[in-house]
Amino acid sequence: MRCGLHCCGADKMSEVILVVDDDTANLMLAKKILGGDYRIAAANSGEAACRYLENNTPDLVLVDINMPEMDGFELVRKMKEDPRWKLIPVIFLTADKNEETEIRCFQAGAVDFVGKPFLPDILNSRVKRTLELERYRSSLEKMVEEQAQQLVGALRRISQMQEHVIVGMANLIESRDGSTGKHVKNTQTYVRMIAEELRNRQLFADILTKDYVEKLCKAAPLHDVGKIQVPDSILQKPGKLTDEEYEQMKKHTVYSSAILDEIIGDVEEEDYIRLAKDVAMYHHERWDGTGYPSGLKGDEIPLGARIMAVADVFDALYEERCYKPAMRPLERIYEIFRSGREKQFDPVITDVFLDMDGQIQEYLEHRGW
Ligand SMILES: [Fe+2]
Repeated sequence: MRCGLHCCGADKMSEVILVVDDDTANLMLAKKILGGDYRIAAANSGEAACRYLENNTPDLVLVDINMPEMDGFELVRKMKEDPRWKLIPVIFLTADKNEETEIRCFQAGAVDFVGKPFLPDILNSRVKRTLELERYRSSLEKMVEEQAQQLVGALRRISQMQEHVIVGMANLIESRDGSTGKHVKNTQTYVRMIAEELRNRQLFADILTKDYVEKLCKAAPLHDVGKIQVPDSILQKPGKLTDEEYEQMKKHTVYSSAILDEIIGDVEEEDYIRLAKDVAMYHHERWDGTGYPSGLKGDEIPLGARIMAVADVFDALYEERCYKPAMRPLERIYEIFRSGREKQFDPVITDVFLDMDGQIQEYLEHRGW
């Protein structure tokens, strides 16, 4: 089976081995054994090795344990603490071939150890195997990183596609009641503007995290999907709805919540589904408890739905519909919000929204339709 790794042998002499030993004879011997296949750098103390490592990254370090001043364990401890050096494989060189030393070598982070005096075949094969493993590790790391990036890109594309489908579907549903099809985009924009302004002012800070705002904006276009189950004769009726028709219209909130369960219930994260359903179900609740479908009151109404209510009503008043003209000037709309404060709308959100007049006007002037 192919492992997918592209881990060829290194070119001859392309790999560098740093040998650290206070005994010059050992340095010479290591160079003699390994010098035919690798480039050898020699350091006669732990301090000299550290100076070398400051400017060089060898592929492998062979370290003598017993050295004056900084011994091999101290040098390797320093290497493992430094992000620049911690992945360089280390083989200890030791004359103490007892179990305790062996355990200390592995605990220090060595990949292997070689007894002194060196036997050329053993040193060669241990070095060769360690470098091969390192090449595999490094290729694997690169491959995982590449695949992780590809996965992130694919997830981003899927998420964008999903959002386009959601907005497209919501637009289709909205267009049935004679709105221009921009209600979805407008309300999503107002929701983002209000939520970000509340966040800037550190209001509802325990709920309004950055993640919550993103999920709320993604949920906003879905707030009226239940209208698909409301007959055209009601949605497009130019005049006032009868009591019975109004009762039918009110059900779009409950329908929306049920539809969301069906279309995203199995594929989305639980907290996003809950938020999307809250927004869809409760965006017609009123602060004083006289809204629908559940008659929730005050902060019993989920925050996302309270924000959606302001965005939804503002857009409904500002835009022209088949059954009503656009309301102008903006001040008339703001007056409705002022009088609806603590009746229809959350007073804190209303105050912040009324403060955002400049931002709202700027959006309306530059939105391109
Ligand atoms: Fe609605």
